[in-house]
Amino acid sequence: MSFDVTAVRRQFPILSEIIDGRPIHYLDNGASAQTPLAVIDAVRTYETTSRANVLRGVHRLAERATEAYENARSEVARFLGVQPMEIIFTGGCTAAINLVAYSYGQLLKPGDRILLSELEHHSNIVPWQLLRQRSGIELDTLPVTADGRIDLGALPQRLTNKTRLVSLTHVSNVTGALLDVRAVVEAARAVGAKVMLDGAQRAPHGPLDLPALGIDFYAFAGHKAYGPNGIGVLWGRPELLEAMPPFHGGGSMIGRVTFAESTWAPPPRRFEAGTPPIGPAIGLGAACRWMGALDWSAAHDHEMALVQRLMDGLQEIGGTRLLGPASLQNRYPVVSFMLDGVHPHDVAQTLDGFGVAVRAGHHCAQPLMDRFDLDGTTRASMVPYNDNDDIDALLAGVRHAARTLR
Ligand SMILES: Cc1ncc(COP(=O)(O)O)c(C=O)c1O
Repeated sequence: MSFDVTAVRRQFPILSEIIDGRPIHYLDNGASAQTPLAVIDAVRTYETTSRANVLRGVHRLAERATEAYENARSEVARFLGVQPMEIIFTGGCTAAINLVAYSYGQLLKPGDRILLSELEHHSNIVPWQLLRQRSGIELDTLPVTADGRIDLGALPQRLTNKTRLVSLTHVSNVTGALLDVRAVVEAARAVGAKVMLDGAQRAPHGPLDLPALGIDFYAFAGHKAYGPNGIGVLWGRPELLEAMPPFHGGGSMIGRVTFAESTWAPPPRRFEAGTPPIGPAIGLGAACRWMGALDWSAAHDHEMALVQRLMDGLQEIGGTRLLGPASLQNRYPVVSFMLDGVHPHDVAQTLDGFGVAVRAGHHCAQPLMDRFDLDGTTRASMVPYNDNDDIDALLAGVRHAARTLR
């Protein structure tokens, strides 16, 4: 059955906005996706019928708020194929990785090693560098192949019996490459290392089965997965979460507090100090439910057809280069390109004049830019509500940039 993109688009009110007489062609989903009515309505319902703090109150509104918040945890758990009590709400994907770096990091000793890769987002580099400064752990990196994938051929040399954790991006926010998780888990297990995935760019493309992946931690951001800003998720294996000390201290995360000492609540509460982002969590629950209802087999085919149309169109324009896998195999709909002789920011500026929103720059992946000796790229990132018109508008803009800026 073909994918009904019009029906999907109708659920996103912002896509019918007209700016300066032009429709919006939103291809910056890798930075933040738009939200469907189902999410907007869920947040509105909380704000208009159930707004109160969670967990502490005994009154009706507090009970409603707590129920909606915990239901959201269950929706996220269903989306990831795990149990609700293994889900920790955080402020974002960055916050989730920092939580692991701090709390799991406290279990590590000087000389222990963490393996990253050259194509990580800064969110999956800097928290580990901060941990290195605090605790004397060492960092190793996997190189990147010429077509923008993590080079897993280097795993045997880069993994040692001191490697405690391998933390890699599930789908690259620059090249769209999908990680071969099975190969990573197998190699990491052989040296007794845990595996964490940064799922920021994978989660917006449909439900996951984390137990089948065999990993230990998973992080993603709500705003890239059709949910509100200010919310993210960390999933961890329950026995690991149980062994980890808290990240932040405050209300809700305690067992008992005295001036002599305090004890901690079990996870997930231990890692959710203070009033959580209640409305955003409820919105993210609705986003997970919305994603769960989509036919992702058809949606993924649709996304990949857009990638092909874009790559073909770019190649027809002289002087363009792609950064990332040329084939559609094991790839997600993020396409980075360069137009020879034109700065990526100028390409993006020209595209804005065509109503096309893309991202230009280093994409918070400076080590990857260094690897390819680039200042930056122009990046189009697609989701199921994008259509051929979006791609054609982008191509028209790039053709114009090629004619006028070189
Ligand atoms: C792969 C990847 N990891 C992590 C992040 C950070 O997400 P956030 O800024 O929502 O915390 C991003 C955001 O662009 C990303 O693309």
